Amino acid sequence: MTLRTIITPDNPVLRKKAHAVKDVADAALQRLIDDMIETMRAAPGVGLAAPQVAVSQRLAVIEYAPGSEDLPEDAEPPALKLFVLINPEITQRSEALVDGAEGCLSIPGYAGNVLRHQAVTVRALNRKGRPVKIKATGWLARIFQHEIDHLDGVLFIDRASKVWKAKDSEVLAE
Ligand code: NI
Repeated sequence: MTLRTIITPDNPVLRKKAHAVKDVADAALQRLIDDMIETMRAAPGVGLAAPQVAVSQRLAVIEYAPGSEDLPEDAEPPALKLFVLINPEITQRSEALVDGAEGCLSIPGYAGNVLRHQAVTVRALNRKGRPVKIKATGWLARIFQHEIDHLDGVLFIDRASKVWKAKDSEVLAE
């Protein structure tokens, strides 16, 4: 596995609408998935979309412990879950919106308040090419929305009500 370079908005790939993945079994795509997982963990971040490593393909990886934000500090942390989303689509969105601070690995050193749907349903292919349907709430739903935005060239600063300089440890980076 190889760490990929995470690009910033000076690279136009970040602003392009990414292309649908055609061949999930392709060896180069499978290598890219492994590299993205490693790059996300090294950053560290909770999500990474292919355009962030200058590949204009509809693919994102997410690793997060669902529900961990609602637990008391001394609680046993829930297990991390890894999601590989290929050609993901949001098929349902809650009416309820929640405001929250998020960051982006492509915009280091900044955070912003973004309104997101409190819950979403996402349909995608997993890395074996099998269709999956995931219902996500809370922070996991926020991460899904952030990553799928990346596939359309949308960054959190486009949606944020307020953007500020932040320490990297202050917010989850996606
Ligand atoms: Ni991001």
